Amino acid sequence: MNGTYLIRTYGCQMNEHDSERMAGMLEAEGYSPVDEPEEANVVVFNTCCIRENADNRLYGNLGHMKAIKDHRPEMKIVVGGCLAQKDRSAIQQRAPYVDVVLGTHNLGSLPRLLRESNEGPAFEILEQTETFPSALPARRNSVWHAWVSISIGCNNSCTFCIVPAVRGAEISRRPGEIAQEVQDLVDDGVIEVTLLGQNVNSYGRDLDGTPQFSRLLRMLDTIDGLERIRFTSPHPKDFRMDTVEAMAQCRAVCEHIHLPVQSGSDSVLRRMKRAYSRTKYLQKVDMIRAAIPDVAITTDIIVGFPGETEQEFQDTLSLVGQARYDAAYMFQYSPRPMTAAAEMGGHLPKEIVQERFGRLVALQEDISFERNLRAVGRVEEIVVEGASKRDADRLTGRTRTNKLVHFEGDGLDEGARAGVSIVAAHRHHLDGNLIGTGAKPARRSLSLPLVTTGSPAGCASCN
Ligand code: 5AD
Ligand code: SF4
Repeated sequence: MNGTYLIRTYGCQMNEHDSERMAGMLEAEGYSPVDEPEEANVVVFNTCCIRENADNRLYGNLGHMKAIKDHRPEMKIVVGGCLAQKDRSAIQQRAPYVDVVLGTHNLGSLPRLLRESNEGPAFEILEQTETFPSALPARRNSVWHAWVSISIGCNNSCTFCIVPAVRGAEISRRPGEIAQEVQDLVDDGVIEVTLLGQNVNSYGRDLDGTPQFSRLLRMLDTIDGLERIRFTSPHPKDFRMDTVEAMAQCRAVCEHIHLPVQSGSDSVLRRMKRAYSRTKYLQKVDMIRAAIPDVAITTDIIVGFPGETEQEFQDTLSLVGQARYDAAYMFQYSPRPMTAAAEMGGHLPKEIVQERFGRLVALQEDISFERNLRAVGRVEEIVVEGASKRDADRLTGRTRTNKLVHFEGDGLDEGARAGVSIVAAHRHHLDGNLIGTGAKPARRSLSLPLVTTGSPAGCASCN
């Protein structure tokens, strides 16, 4: 027995996946998990640097850890992930009490660096990846869901984005290895996987010169017992018909696509180096909607990119009005070191960005509500995720379209599948009534009798 550990994770799903691997390695070394830093022998911060506030939050948290370490000097503090990759020397200067720093390319060195830190600070940042995170041991947070990385790194150069600088060039994992991992996960009780890559559509280009993502989807779809396949994120410029066809035809691939647009203005898209126009993007949205009935489309949008004019922002609003996203992650532009946009002129005052951001959020919330209303009266297949955070007496599950549903369902375990009749829509979730459990899902809808209780309604607090 080596003691106790706690991992705090910031940022995206890749980081969540990396944290599961770090937990797996620590447990293989005899550590066991605890919930509070006061009880932990090792506290790991798995960091993100995609936006500025993540930096500030880390240094705030490290200050808090220092106070604990002053009382318990044997406690080890580890900083890993993207911010560590970007900021190694800054961490050394600003938080000299940190014991271990490791970057995005050497996750697997955590146990060794912890041992080396007994002799003094162990800092190691590599420029190239040693091992795919998925090839390391894992302690999964869920019995029924798993992240699976299919590629790491990114070969694009979106001018706002720090990811290529901290995650490196794109490397795809061999399809056979991915299929074997997914098969092992299914044998272990997993029914849903999310395939991870910075740009899943270019998956395989470095293996044999051609993109292979649609082939990968078709291959994984044949795995018996795998009920849901999700993926994130495709880049609109590489998103082609073969992937849409695979999505439409594969039993397990969910009817949800996250297609980050970033801006609705052609001139901003050019300055962002996104390599598609507004028209091309909207054509892809039409292509997806035509091929996959009732598909949910979500996106990422940045407000206040350097030089963004009111007219360019209006173009984003009008694109959002046209695309009618089910949900959107909306961000205020944040200048990042090592990015071209940080060096551009025309950085906007915070008040202007905030005001535009407010208008965009208001528009999208109306659209999300309208999209959610379409589900009312339908029966959806959901997978139970656990107790609802708003009301412990209710359960929460997710539809294949990735919408959250709250409902009463005594005795249902995490990972159980159920048929739920949707009775009310809100901006960020749905309410439903349980009508059946454990049913084998038919493609896209359950063949359960439609029972509606209560009238379809919106939420007073949302409207
Ligand atoms: N400022 C604001 N948002 C950003 N994103 C990436 N870089 C920045 C930045 N510098 C957003 C993009 C991306 C999502 C993961 O984070 O919308 O798709
Ligand atoms: Fe960043 Fe663009 Fe690569 Fe996405 S595609 S990770 S936004 S550089």
